Amino acid sequence: MQNIIQRLDAKREAARLGGGQARIDKQHAKGKLTARERIELFLDAGSFEEWDMFVEHRCVDFGMADQKIPGDGVVTGYGTVCGRLVFVYSQDFTVFGGSLSAAHASKICKIMDHAIKVGAPVVGLNDSGGARIQEGVDALAGYADVFQRNVMASGVIPQISMIMGPCAGGAVYSPAMTDFIFMIKNTSYMFVTGPDVVKTVTHEEVSAEELGGAATHTSRSGVADLAFENGVEGLLMLRRFLNFLPSNNREKPPVWPCNDPAERIEKSLDSLIPADPNKPYDIKELIFKVVDEHDFFELQPDFAANIITGFGRMQGSTVGIVANQPMVLAGCLDIASSRKAARFVRFCDAFNIPIITFVDVPGFLPGTSQEYAGIIKHGAKLLYAYAEATVPKVTLITRKAYGGAYDVMSSKHLRGDVNFAWPTAEIAVMGPKGAVEIIFRADSNDQEIIKQRTEEYSARFATPFVAGSRGFIDDVIMPHNTRTRICRSLAMLRDKQLENPWRKHGNIPL
Ligand code: HXC
Repeated sequence: MQNIIQRLDAKREAARLGGGQARIDKQHAKGKLTARERIELFLDAGSFEEWDMFVEHRCVDFGMADQKIPGDGVVTGYGTVCGRLVFVYSQDFTVFGGSLSAAHASKICKIMDHAIKVGAPVVGLNDSGGARIQEGVDALAGYADVFQRNVMASGVIPQISMIMGPCAGGAVYSPAMTDFIFMIKNTSYMFVTGPDVVKTVTHEEVSAEELGGAATHTSRSGVADLAFENGVEGLLMLRRFLNFLPSNNREKPPVWPCNDPAERIEKSLDSLIPADPNKPYDIKELIFKVVDEHDFFELQPDFAANIITGFGRMQGSTVGIVANQPMVLAGCLDIASSRKAARFVRFCDAFNIPIITFVDVPGFLPGTSQEYAGIIKHGAKLLYAYAEATVPKVTLITRKAYGGAYDVMSSKHLRGDVNFAWPTAEIAVMGPKGAVEIIFRADSNDQEIIKQRTEEYSARFATPFVAGSRGFIDDVIMPHNTRTRICRSLAMLRDKQLENPWRKHGNIPL
């Protein structure tokens, strides 16, 4: 017995040491935490239950039979974040560069299978050189096993990837299928083919950071949702982020204690909209002033900034917020913003998170670059996502709601539950100037008539009243009452029941 316990201790010690002290020191010298340090920071203290510490790879090629490290380069198990169950895997770069073997993959699959069964999120802390080269097709098979589970878990439990080191080749496709990707500045990168292959094939010279670093993916490609300064900040923010999410698709989001009264009046909102309709203002001011305790967790702030997405709370319950941002491209919808918001809306809908939409949209962005790149199909994604969503939907038009974009942005016609407008709302096919230029083209040389017609058009359509008279707007509210009116609407909608017709799955324009 004593002998077994000693062997057990020795194995645990070996597993904890991973690839050895020298490699741990190397990891620290790069400013990176080890796999275990990351888990310790991420989970509630003392809550981690580790599984499969003794798992070893089964490869015998290239001298691998003599190089076995218990745990095989990934630490897996479950624990809690603020008392709520979470499954986690953390790749250990000190063991064969965190590369994925068949055994490594089966450890990840095991926790994913359990997470699906019990209905709890899976968090991956990725730091890996990709497929274990010595294993060949066994490693590729392991990846596919993980991919398949990513897809089965999609829309059932939240899946979050925190990229904390390399993530290259086909390995990127597991994070790509998770709900959110977070990265660490200057230490993480993701690409399908690295700089050397890029140089050979396209003759482009590009660094790993430029090709797939955090800045690239949070601002240019939109692959990642957020980037953090370092691992510690990233893991603490990840805890904060998880507090917004329900554990699975059958639960409502958690309700946290809230000291912010639903009836809070925000007088300053009465002067948010500038007198000049072409002058921008910051829609984030409205968001911060409406949500509980001004706490808004924005996603993709540097990508498609003409639309804002993120989580907040109203009376302690999570809400997803989508808002046109007049400060960027006048808040119009383009390809990037449609894709960004559509994916966010679908996440909220899959996980029972009510959606609040703040609308100030002059239309879709015109131009050949948008048309050639398929704005028709991409814009349709957002339309589809809103129309398909059955969660409570509350919409507020602050100023412009023109043309097709009016319909798209959670309008009454797409089953918006409560649709409000501020008195400054303008709901029309297009702005007064453009409209008059088209319908009174014959008078275009007479500036006096054009001026008069523009005034007539503005008086008729640059208001919320025509939409109100049809019941497309439920009420015109004063800006200072916005929080109260939305809180009441959400409380009324708490037990909303709405189901789409049975189908295998819809065919969203991908
Ligand atoms: C086995 C690996 C490995 C791998 C790294 N190591 N990647 N072992 N399989 N894929 C080992 C190294 O041999 C080294 O071992 C240790 O990990 C650390 O690696 P270094 O190169 O010293 O570290 P660093 O300089 O930081 O470079 C990291 C790296 C580089 C950029 C990730 O290791 C690298 O390019 N690795 C190969 C990446 C790759 O081509 N992977 C396959 C991608 S294709 P020692 O013993 O010296 O510490 C793929 C397909 C997936 O993944 C398909 C899914 C469908």
